[in-house]
Amino acid sequence: MPLNVPKNAVIYQIYPRSYRDTDGDGLGDIRGIIESLDHIASLGITHIWLSPVYKSPDDDNGYDIADYKSIQPAFGTMEDFDELVREAKARGIGIVMDLVINHTSDEHEWFKRALAGEEKYRNYYIIRKGKDKKLPNNWGNFFAECPWARFGDSEDEYYLHLFSKKQPDLNWNNPEVMEEVKDIMRFWLDRGVVGFRCDVINIIYKSSLENGKKRLVLTGQEHFMSQEGCHRILQELRREVLEPYGAFAVGETVFVDVKKGKDLCDASRGELDMIFYFEHMECDQVFVKWFKTRLNPRKVMKTLTKWQTALEWNACYFENHDQPRFISRFPDLKNYRAEASRMMAGLLMTLKGTPFVFEGQEIGMVNGDFKDLSEVEDIESHNIYAMAKSLGIPKRIRWKMIQRTSRDNARTPMQWSAEEGAGFTSGKPWLKINENYKEVNVAAESAREDGVLAFWKKMIEMRKTDKALSLGDFNAIYEGKRVYAFERNFEGRRLISVSNMSGKAVKLPKILEDRGSLVISSYGKCASDKLMPFEFRLYLCEEEK
Ligand code: NOJ
Repeated sequence: MPLNVPKNAVIYQIYPRSYRDTDGDGLGDIRGIIESLDHIASLGITHIWLSPVYKSPDDDNGYDIADYKSIQPAFGTMEDFDELVREAKARGIGIVMDLVINHTSDEHEWFKRALAGEEKYRNYYIIRKGKDKKLPNNWGNFFAECPWARFGDSEDEYYLHLFSKKQPDLNWNNPEVMEEVKDIMRFWLDRGVVGFRCDVINIIYKSSLENGKKRLVLTGQEHFMSQEGCHRILQELRREVLEPYGAFAVGETVFVDVKKGKDLCDASRGELDMIFYFEHMECDQVFVKWFKTRLNPRKVMKTLTKWQTALEWNACYFENHDQPRFISRFPDLKNYRAEASRMMAGLLMTLKGTPFVFEGQEIGMVNGDFKDLSEVEDIESHNIYAMAKSLGIPKRIRWKMIQRTSRDNARTPMQWSAEEGAGFTSGKPWLKINENYKEVNVAAESAREDGVLAFWKKMIEMRKTDKALSLGDFNAIYEGKRVYAFERNFEGRRLISVSNMSGKAVKLPKILEDRGSLVISSYGKCASDKLMPFEFRLYLCEEEK
């Protein structure tokens, strides 16, 4: 069981620049979030995870922080932030901050002072001389860049950046960095935040800068992926910062297998409360995420079962700001957008662990409808496109890759209403609004009694109030070509969750003959032996006397 996150929490992720704009600059802001709190509360959400709202030059949309203790002016002020915390609290909602501590922005004061030659701050970063006119090592980079950039005017000194050139990696071998981060965390905890989502947390510690074994993806990873030093750091942050405040931490963890995942979040180790792993996001990829194939639902089921069974507690998610919308991965989506979204609500809310809902998921938003690269903003997409070009991949295929995989797919502005600007902005949105906003929006959904939003609300309510869903054991029952079924048991109460992850109607598997009584169906109450396309059902088996 997790350490500090309440077992019935349901967390909503907000990507602030895309949520709601109140001053007409085309960019979401904190006031927009405050004005949306009633919507969020009506969903039944217990916590909001805010993607970064700190001061940033926005090379990577705020994941390049220039000042950890201030608010990006375009998003508002510290007073706005404090009001958000207060107003959210008044509705029983806690705020979770994004903690990005693998790197800072190159416009952070520390980096500027390092460039100015201050030894103390040089030691905050990983700065090395090249070897025989070559780079310090052969590592790879997450954004398909060279991970070493010239340090200032220096001819032979480089700094390490595993992400963009404007995101220099911090030196976690320096105890002063640790003290700075503790101070930053306490600063926000003192303002009332209740937890952190920790960005790429398992790569922060570099145990050596030796050359790595040559790989197609991320050479060098054996020197920075889930190193012992990272576990020590997490234990110290837990002991000295999180515990005294009773706060929780969910870690974004890259390239973890079950063993590595357990080491990061098993309660007995005192590190993270839970982790975001990626394996289920990869069920439609060929080797790397930029090459996609048809989604294989059985692969998704098997992956979910594996992690559900292996970890004491999961961070359950299907969407976030880095992933294409999950329902857009289903080949039959065209005719079944609403059905697929309702099914995903049922599946997500019945898995074991803390469910994370990404903004827009509650109304069944789908991938962005970008026509070409000029409509895409994401730095990663542009870098990958350029890399694909240099590899001689034809233009049509390059664009197809980006169209299906770009992180901007999930970052399109929130669709609030059918008005121009989708109720998101009265100005020019920073990223193209999906043209389907006239039909897919919060206002339209709010008027539909049996719509997508209403079903998400119902499922969230059930997830929070039914102990079998919040506390029960997980056991997989059936992983078919299309149908996934598992049970959740708590003190004799046995619920069976059944999802048809396809656009075909299918017979209920034989194994579910003895399935008890229907609690809810995403199609209403009229259940039969046939599951409708993307139908979700929940059954209650007789409680043991
Ligand atoms: C993971 C974040 O989710 C992503 O958006 C960001 O680009 C990288 N970490 C770098 O901070």
